[in-house]
Amino acid sequence: MDYRVYIANKLSSEHVTSGDIALPPNTEMGDYALPCFKLAKILRKSPVQIAEDFKNSFETDDVISEVSAVNGYLNFKINKSGFTQSVLKTVLKEVDRYGSADDGAGKTVLIDYSSVNIAKPFHIGHLSTTVIGSALYKIFKFLGYNVVGINHLGDYGTQFGKLISAYKRWGNREEVEKGGIHAVNELYVRFNEEADDDMQAEAREYFCHIENGEKEACELFEWFKSLTLAYVNKIYDRLNVHFDSYAGERFYTDKMQPVIDELKEKNLLKQSEGAQIVDLEDYGMPPCLILRSDGASLYATRDLAAAMYRKNTYDFYKCLYVVAYQQNLHFKQFFKVLELMGKPWAKDLVHVAYGMVSLEDGAMSTRKGKVVWLEDVIKRCVEKAYTIISEKNAELENKEQIAETVGIGAVIFGALYNNKIKDITFSYDKVLSFEGETSVYVQYTCARANSVLSKSGDNYVLPENFIPDATEYEVVKAIASFGQTVRDAAEKYEPSLIARYAVDLAQKFNKFYIECKILTAEGAARDFRLCLTKAAHIALKNSLSLLGIGVPEKM
Ligand code: ARG
Repeated sequence: MDYRVYIANKLSSEHVTSGDIALPPNTEMGDYALPCFKLAKILRKSPVQIAEDFKNSFETDDVISEVSAVNGYLNFKINKSGFTQSVLKTVLKEVDRYGSADDGAGKTVLIDYSSVNIAKPFHIGHLSTTVIGSALYKIFKFLGYNVVGINHLGDYGTQFGKLISAYKRWGNREEVEKGGIHAVNELYVRFNEEADDDMQAEAREYFCHIENGEKEACELFEWFKSLTLAYVNKIYDRLNVHFDSYAGERFYTDKMQPVIDELKEKNLLKQSEGAQIVDLEDYGMPPCLILRSDGASLYATRDLAAAMYRKNTYDFYKCLYVVAYQQNLHFKQFFKVLELMGKPWAKDLVHVAYGMVSLEDGAMSTRKGKVVWLEDVIKRCVEKAYTIISEKNAELENKEQIAETVGIGAVIFGALYNNKIKDITFSYDKVLSFEGETSVYVQYTCARANSVLSKSGDNYVLPENFIPDATEYEVVKAIASFGQTVRDAAEKYEPSLIARYAVDLAQKFNKFYIECKILTAEGAARDFRLCLTKAAHIALKNSLSLLGIGVPEKM
């Protein structure tokens, strides 16, 4: 039960949604408030009058004990014990479904994320798209949407001709089989270092072979692709990342012509220096390139074909592209082209842009020699996690498994914690700190709660009519706001809201843990505090799980 939803329902105004109900900083006025300023324009009344009108027609009940109208705000006081009882009852009943909803029933959301490039390094630059996309996948699922995760593979382009040329010159099957993606990438890098004009011509030739379905070239290409996928899938498994489709750019090879025909038919295609473009000057953008002068298609051409295919196949409600802000223009351009083609659903395409990740030593670029493979970042975090938890608790069993959960959590949470559009610097020390705003801190809090619960003897029931003190009540309210946080995160495509929520709840729980006796308390207080501990554990665990992060029982 989420009380913002409860209040919004009670107000039953078409202009008020649960998202409009705010948590006032000063709880003396009320536990929740509705600022009426936004409504003034729509209702053509002053905010003060609107608040007054709402107040007069509002009937208080077990949960909302008092309503007041002050300076254009409608303030709600919650009946603490009724509220507390109802929140904890819901959490303890719903457990791992707590916070879920069926808002999305019947709606399909497509998420294009991670979208790796075949035979190229899977590097730190792919971290954000992978973990943000994966979190959105889990969040929308939790809200009842039908979700389709798509890895729009970068598997198209002349670089595959280069790779075949390099392999035929210097490669050997056994070595590549053994070295996997690293060996493949080395061949590619070497080609770029050593290729002269003849080799470039040869590479173009091989690319044509792939295009024409020539057997040897296609087999080699498929082999490079399977090596890359085998490699990235291991990392996806560790990061709890899932895809339903690996239809990449190549998949659209035979689906571009109909798009080009339609552009022609609609008079949108123009010749410019031999190339075919859609002019976007009226919209303040450079032209969108559709075909090069040699007739080759472009990234945007394939994205247009992909969008049309996706609409026809899935009839999506939204199609999200989790891609770095460097590609802002690309998305604006091809979304605009679809709009000009008269596709009303172009408005349902969303570029979920995020900032850059760099490491503390400045490394991040994919230029020669400076690539930081994501695998190495993970490895280092897990190793560091092992050292830290061993130092903290030498007796701990299953250290390796716990280090994996903690290390992976740190990688994900480190990339997710900030507003996604911000550029971030990834610091191993920071993401693994027990004291900071980290997943480790949240996981440790869970282990702490778990330890209390396991010592309790499981002999507690939720007491009726219990009135929590201020510290306990803060925890109750934080737990209660989980559902709305999940909704906000979905609406803003911002998983960081859930990460921040988890840290906030963990801080409030720890304050309670330090200030209030739990196991040694007596009677209803002991029962209540154990229930509160259990409920906090559930809300924390569910929030981390939406980010793809596990919770060890002990730490
Ligand atoms: N593979 C591309 C890159 O690494 C990202 C693809 C994103 N998805 C899309 N539909 N354009 O830049």
